[in-house]
Amino acid sequence: MPNYAYVDGKYCNKINAKTFIDDRGYQFGDSVYEVIIYREGIFLDLEGHIKRLRNSLKSLDFIFKMSNQSLLIIIKHLLRINKINFGSIYIQISRGICERDHSYHNMKLKPVLVITTKKIKNDFEEIIDGINVVLIKDTRWSHPDIKTVQLLPNVLAKTYAKKNSADEAIFFDENDFVTEGSSSNVWILTQDNILITRSLDGSILPGITRNTIFECAKHNKISIKEKKFKIKDLINAKEVFITSASSFVTPVKKVDNLIINNGYEKQFSNLLRKTYLNLYK
Ligand code: PDD
Repeated sequence: MPNYAYVDGKYCNKINAKTFIDDRGYQFGDSVYEVIIYREGIFLDLEGHIKRLRNSLKSLDFIFKMSNQSLLIIIKHLLRINKINFGSIYIQISRGICERDHSYHNMKLKPVLVITTKKIKNDFEEIIDGINVVLIKDTRWSHPDIKTVQLLPNVLAKTYAKKNSADEAIFFDENDFVTEGSSSNVWILTQDNILITRSLDGSILPGITRNTIFECAKHNKISIKEKKFKIKDLINAKEVFITSASSFVTPVKKVDNLIINNGYEKQFSNLLRKTYLNLYK
């Protein structure tokens, strides 16, 4: 069955979909993106993702006139023709197409919208054992809070993780403070049951899943703090977990081969995972 994509105004079979070599997204990483999960008629955190997409566009001066309503019509149509019941939606908007020039000053550019979908095979697992992660120096630019496709450090970090039998790489800054994962936000539960995640201080992406979990935790009267924490806090935590649209809430078993809290069950992380997934059932 063909897998359709939406490319700059047209639906086409993904294998025939084309982009222009003068697309600024392709040449300069001058594009923004979002990943949204859809399951049985429900979009997970749709409003948050669309809002962040608009913020990314605004931060980078993109003039993108399509309404949210039109965007949603396209997404829903794509899900329908691709017969997706459970899957992810990838939205990318590049600044546009023009002859290569670093500056876009005074250029008449029309943003290029691309949307693709991908089926997720296995249904939600509410309780999971957890993943291994590795630590890696954060070498990204000073605006990781904008969701752009300039992801080379993230790509290298994730590859380093996979090469070392891990599923995620966690970035730390020059003072050993944890920033975030290569494609996730990071959380710890301290030995005295305080939930900590880094504040939105410009050095992490304002994760949409992070926000929902934060509100969930507050609602359930869990002690929660938004503040920086160090690698040693991560290693000595009672539980460590990551959040993202595609991983939901995922417990961490090992950090650089060190077993977190003697490998005790990740009860709290899994409880949050279950609570999060139940919001969308
Ligand atoms: N990544 N931090 C980074 C660097 C990310 O790339 C992501 C998400 C997150 C979590 O954000 P959210 O909860 O809004 O998904 C944090 C997506 C899933 C991706 O690039 O595929």
